[in-house]
Amino acid sequence: MEQIIILDFGSPYTQLIARRVRECKVYCLIKPYTTAAAEIATLKPRGLILSGGPLSASAANAPRPDPAIYQLGVPVLGIAYGLQVMALELGGGLEPAAQREYGKVTLKLSGTESALFRNVEAQTQVWSSPGGRLSRLPEGFIGIGSTPHSDPAAVEEPRRRFYGVQFHPEVVHSLHGYQMLSNFVHEVCGCGESWTMQAYRRQAIEQIRAQVGDEHVILGLSGGVDSSVAAVLLQEAIGERLTCIFVNNGLLRAGEAESVRDLFCRNFNIRLHYEDASELFLSRLAGVTDPEKKRAVIGNSFIEVFEAAQKKVGHARFLAQGTVYPDVIESIAADGNPATLVKSHHNVGGLPSEMRFELVEPFRYLFKDEVRELGEVLGLSRELVWRQPFPGPGLGVRLVGEITPERLRILREADAIVTEEMRRSDWYYKVWQSFAVLLPVRSVGVKGDLRTYEETVALRVVESLDGMTADWVRLPYELLEVISRRILSEVPGVSRVCYDISHKPPSTIEWE
Ligand code: XMP
Repeated sequence: MEQIIILDFGSPYTQLIARRVRECKVYCLIKPYTTAAAEIATLKPRGLILSGGPLSASAANAPRPDPAIYQLGVPVLGIAYGLQVMALELGGGLEPAAQREYGKVTLKLSGTESALFRNVEAQTQVWSSPGGRLSRLPEGFIGIGSTPHSDPAAVEEPRRRFYGVQFHPEVVHSLHGYQMLSNFVHEVCGCGESWTMQAYRRQAIEQIRAQVGDEHVILGLSGGVDSSVAAVLLQEAIGERLTCIFVNNGLLRAGEAESVRDLFCRNFNIRLHYEDASELFLSRLAGVTDPEKKRAVIGNSFIEVFEAAQKKVGHARFLAQGTVYPDVIESIAADGNPATLVKSHHNVGGLPSEMRFELVEPFRYLFKDEVRELGEVLGLSRELVWRQPFPGPGLGVRLVGEITPERLRILREADAIVTEEMRRSDWYYKVWQSFAVLLPVRSVGVKGDLRTYEETVALRVVESLDGMTADWVRLPYELLEVISRRILSEVPGVSRVCYDISHKPPSTIEWE
């Protein structure tokens, strides 16, 4: 398949470049800047993109790519640091900028007909990052655009098809940035639109069949997006040789266990081993109130139950996991430390290493949104594919204080109302997460003529890009009113509803 290689110099935007290239329907991979040109050549890329980076390209310890990459005969696009390092390596000069440019600036095109700027307006807003000024261009390079304090801010070497920009076309604040990247991959590198989820579906199925052969695969199904899409894809690839294990830990939301069984057994004809371990989990959680201890009890019990279920299912050589690309990208630490940093791979429910399986990871090179798109292509409903994240320990970390069947009932009913009203008002898909939390606080109320002393529910509704930071959502008062009124009147045992207006940091999204 046609592909673009992105060399990572440690910019926090490197993954964003990859996302944009994929949005252009072109496959791409991120490689550390240290990757040898000979290794890159074996991947037969149609073009290279050199990412930004936190250091100055003229610093003594500045990361430098293998100089042989310029002899691969493929187009190169240098972005910010990527341009500066390319300019220096090809004989150009760099000096500290008289005035540092940062943020939104206007790019003026020079009027030369550059393929990079096809269909880009003559003056357009771009997102600049501070860096050195190009004081001398390498031989054959010409300026094709400038910003107020950087002239040139975009360059081209038409013969070898080398391009560079001092700004970040990958961020949304560069208004024609997507067009520029699309021009680079399509017009300059000549890539077609070959990266589609339909194409990936065929390719992934072939790969799974080749890897698994006649063997059996098990998959821990949580009902979340990644494991659900993986289940359906594997079913299509190997049919009955896939067995999914779904553990009911007693901390699921209302109707969840039933809907997972319905969907996967009836609609997709998947062999599902359903293990109802709710009593075991709840008995072990009795009296436990410390959040970390709760998590440990839930995690350890999960491993135990999963292992026992797996023995019942029978021998499987492979374990499938929904690991996504951001978990496996070998990236350069954004603090500029040139040491390669490999993120640890997440592991379903933290299964112990003695469980010796070979892994099947069909989404190793997909971004989360692509997994969702693949899910839709495979026929999963929009409702499932775009569902909000739900933590592994389930309602256990949304029930502050002791977990009892009665308190779980209250939280489940309140949570169902929140979800129903968020969906009804169309807010469900606009936010990152929306849920109810049961607090360890009782308060006085009056119901009818009686004084009550009952539980408190907090509503948590946040927006976030990746769960790392979050802000509380300014929901309309009318919607808050409906949710609060329904919880107070329909859920016995609750006499107060509060709205959580804390952002992350410092407050985490979940309460425990
Ligand atoms: P916090 O509470 O740390 O949550 O701000 C950030 C995001 O991670 C989710 N989360 C979890 N997901 N297992 C999971 O699979 C967990 O133990 C867990 N804890 C938090 C949380 O829902 C939010 O999206």
